[in-house]
Amino acid sequence: MRRRSFLNIASTGALSALALAQSVSAQMGGMPRGGMGAMMGRLPPFRSGLPTGLPLPHLGTLANQSAVLGDFEGTLVASPYNASLVSDRTTELWGYNGQYPGPVIELREGQRVAITFANRLDLESTIHWHGLAVPADQDGSPMDPVDPHTDRLYTFEVPIGSAGTYWYHPHAHETNTLQVGHGLAAPLIVRSSDDPLQGLSERTLMVTSLGLDSNAQVITGSTSMSGMGAMMMPGMSELLVNGRRLPVHTVTPGATERWRIINATADRYLRLSLDGHYFAVVGTDGGLLDQPLPGLSEWLLAPAQRVEIVVSMNTRRSTRYALRDLGYGGAMNGGSDIELMTVQTSGAVALAPVELPRILRPIVALGPATVQQQVALSGAGMGMTGAFLINGKRFDMDRVDLETVVGRVELWEIVNASFMDHPIHIHGTQFQLVGRTVRGVPIAAALPGWFDTVNVPAGETVTIKTQQMLPGKRMFHCHLLPHEDAGMMAVLDVRAAAS
Ligand code: C2O
Ligand code: CU
Ligand code: CU
Repeated sequence: MRRRSFLNIASTGALSALALAQSVSAQMGGMPRGGMGAMMGRLPPFRSGLPTGLPLPHLGTLANQSAVLGDFEGTLVASPYNASLVSDRTTELWGYNGQYPGPVIELREGQRVAITFANRLDLESTIHWHGLAVPADQDGSPMDPVDPHTDRLYTFEVPIGSAGTYWYHPHAHETNTLQVGHGLAAPLIVRSSDDPLQGLSERTLMVTSLGLDSNAQVITGSTSMSGMGAMMMPGMSELLVNGRRLPVHTVTPGATERWRIINATADRYLRLSLDGHYFAVVGTDGGLLDQPLPGLSEWLLAPAQRVEIVVSMNTRRSTRYALRDLGYGGAMNGGSDIELMTVQTSGAVALAPVELPRILRPIVALGPATVQQQVALSGAGMGMTGAFLINGKRFDMDRVDLETVVGRVELWEIVNASFMDHPIHIHGTQFQLVGRTVRGVPIAAALPGWFDTVNVPAGETVTIKTQQMLPGKRMFHCHLLPHEDAGMMAVLDVRAAAS
């Protein structure tokens, strides 16, 4: 088989070899980015003293306390706690129910959900259900903070058709780098009753970044160095999978597994690849694609994005393979090649390969767009004084930046005039990719699927089609957490349709 390298650099879908070459040269072209990348490359690798080689843990799930059959009721307590991550040291983490990452919330399409959030932190927080279309007043936006040491009940219904991999995290005003960086983040999985991949054995891989100082205390890119944060973090933190540094996932040779991978890092692009294996991408942020994309050797997962892949393990027994982040050279966030997890085949007899279904689920294309909106990303200055803006402005939750109407299909042109990439996320909906423009050359997206976050590379324009079905004010923002905290966020007011 020809090695197919699939860099979804703007996540805009399958690129032709030509488009790929263009985007790779665009990555290399910009002087500031090349220069920064080179600078990052010279930093010594960060060593936190975290143990490696422990088994890949299964993440605990949040208990359903509902007495009503079919409903989901749960409690999430966010509080500081002491963890022993490094020998002879205690690390103060902040966790949901004392776990890093927090408990997995397992939901079903159509389910009624009521989750009590007990904020036992000394600062205001919220819970945001990243990617799920819940009503605006249940979205955990910074407009709706939960005061320290108070409780709040979130209620919503899981949308039909939303089966997929999501995550939840705080969304308080200007303190998300701090809160997520201390461990407040966890997977949320929505299941449907007719999942075509139901029979496959499945793992959720939550990738987080954890910065520890020499005393094993958490360091995050604080808001005071907001502009700088995204540049400093990669050198100061380690990448963990399900809370462990370089864990070992033991598999039966030949086993076919479905992995739900979540990029829950503060600001790290993950160019994922598994040594000695090709894989099929079967799902993105909003769930399954229309059909599997097989034969891939790598996949770019921007911060906050999710990908579902199916891997058939090599049939060789007792062999180790590394799941790695190849390093994203173009962005300043790109670190060097780093191993994330070891996949170890056991000594058992190899399993026969599993054939994937040709069709996963229909992806209905959004209708013709009736309105076009411009979203301009810009950077001003660098380092400590740096600021990243949307349409020339810093976030102000009392201002409305864009308006739309429930049900209206819009084309959003997201133009990145800054010197680095920004993963742009819209609340309240899943959108479709239309295309991108690289140095004036338009490239159509060829990946029918649903996204809530799209990478917009420096100097490029990414076009998406989006539609909001619920009224209210919604955030859209860069998901590099230091940028979000620094105000690279805006408000979309979704008005009820006139009847
Ligand atoms: Cu993952 Cu506005 O958030
Ligand atoms: Cu979100
Ligand atoms: Cu950004």
